[in-house]
Amino acid sequence: MSFTELFSPLKVGPKELKNRLAFAPTGMGNADDHGGVTDQTLCHYTARAKGGVGMVIVEHTMANLKFGLEGIGCLGFHRDRNLAGMYDLANAIKAFGAAAVVQLSLGLGREPGPGLESFGPSAVPVEFAPGCMPKGLKGFEGYTAPPPRELAIPEIEELEDLFIASALRIQSAGFDGIEIHGGHGYALASFLSPHANQRKDRYGGSFEKRMTLALNLVRRCREGLGKDFIIGFRISGDEHIQGGRRISETIDIARILEKEGIDYIHLTSGTLEAKKFTFPDKEGVILPEAEAIKAAVRVPVICPNIHDPQKAADAVKKGRVDIVSLSRSLLADPQWPVKVREGRTNEIRRCILCNTCLNTLFTGFKTRCAVNPDVGRERFMPEYFPPPRKIGKGKK
Ligand SMILES: Cc1cc2nc3c(=O)[nH]c(=O)nc-3n(C[C@H](O)[C@H](O)[C@H](O)COP(=O)(O)O)c2cc1C
Repeated sequence: MSFTELFSPLKVGPKELKNRLAFAPTGMGNADDHGGVTDQTLCHYTARAKGGVGMVIVEHTMANLKFGLEGIGCLGFHRDRNLAGMYDLANAIKAFGAAAVVQLSLGLGREPGPGLESFGPSAVPVEFAPGCMPKGLKGFEGYTAPPPRELAIPEIEELEDLFIASALRIQSAGFDGIEIHGGHGYALASFLSPHANQRKDRYGGSFEKRMTLALNLVRRCREGLGKDFIIGFRISGDEHIQGGRRISETIDIARILEKEGIDYIHLTSGTLEAKKFTFPDKEGVILPEAEAIKAAVRVPVICPNIHDPQKAADAVKKGRVDIVSLSRSLLADPQWPVKVREGRTNEIRRCILCNTCLNTLFTGFKTRCAVNPDVGRERFMPEYFPPPRKIGKGKK
C-alpha cells in the first residue's frame, strides 16, 4: 500500500500545507458560556494537530450572537475578550506544523433549536421528513419547525458587518485563514438556496441575487484581510431536496468564487432537511460531488467523508480531489495521519459510523465518541497539553 500522495505538500493560497489531510470542522461544544476557548478546546485541537494533519479547520464559530447560541459551547469571535484564548488556540495548532484555519459562520439560520431564534432569507419552515436523517439523529424525523423569521435588509447588512469584524479578529489572533461556512443549510447557505431563499429584493429572486450575500462577504473579507491570508469557502454540492440547489448550479458558484479570489473550496453535501447527505452513513458519498467541482476550478478542492487510508490516497492520486478532510475518523483516532504515514494502518482505531458524536452534539451534550473514550477528556492527558506559550520576543 502506498500513501505517498497523501503526504505531498500543496500550496493553498499563500501557504504551503505539509500534506493533503485536514481536520474537518467538527463541532465539539467545548467553548465556555461566552464562546471562549477552554482548556478542553486547546487540548482537543492539540491532539488533532499533533496527529499530523496539514491543516486544522476549527469548528463552526459564530461571527455574532444576534440570534442565540451563547452558553451551548459554540466558539465565538463576536467579541475582543475571546482573543487571548483564540491566540493560544492558533499557536497550539501551528506548533505542530499545521495551518490553522477557522470556520466562520453567520449562524444556524433556519435550523430549529432550543434557545435559538430561527431566521432566514424567507419564512420557509424546516421539515424533517421521515428518512432524511442519518443514524443517530433519526429521533428528529417527523418534526416540522415553526417558520423562521424573514430578515429585513438592514439586519442582513448588520450581519455582514459583524462577519467582517469577526474575520479581522481571527486574523489578529494569529490564524492562517478562515473558511466561510456556506454549507449545511445554515444562515449563509440558506441565501444560496433556491428552496430557502424566496426573496424578491437584492438578496434573492434570481441566481445572481441569491449570490449577493456570499459575494459581499467574500469581497469584503479579501479586502480587509489582504492577499496573505487563506480564505476558503464551504458549500454543499447538491442540497438533495426537492426544489433545492443542484450540483450544476454549485459548479457555477464555485467558478464565481474562484474568480473572486477564494483559495479553496471545501465540499459538503445536503442541507438542513437532508442531513443524511451531510453526515453520510457510509464513506465516499460526497466524493462524486467534490470531483465535479474539482473538474470545474483550479483552486484546491477538499472532500470529507473518506475514512479508509487507501481510498483517501487513491482519491488524491487520481486527481479526484486535492485534500481529504477527516471529521469522525479523527475523533475516533487523532493519530490517523501519523499511523498512515508510518504504514501502521492496522493500528488505526476506526470510526464505526455509529454517529454517537452527532447524537451527543445535537441533543445538547458535548460531542463524544463511542470508540474513543478520550474524546472530551484530552485536558486530563498530558500528551495533549498545548506547547508552552510564546510571549513577545523573549530569548530562548
Ligand atoms: C460531531 C460533528 C460535528 C460537526 N461539526 C461541523 C461543523 O462545525 N462545521 C462543519 O462545516 N461541518 C461539521 N461537521 C461535518 C464534518 O465536517 C464532515 O463534513 C462530515 O462529518 C462528513 O465527513 P466524515 O465522514 O469524515 O465525518 C460535523 C460532523 C460531526 C460528526
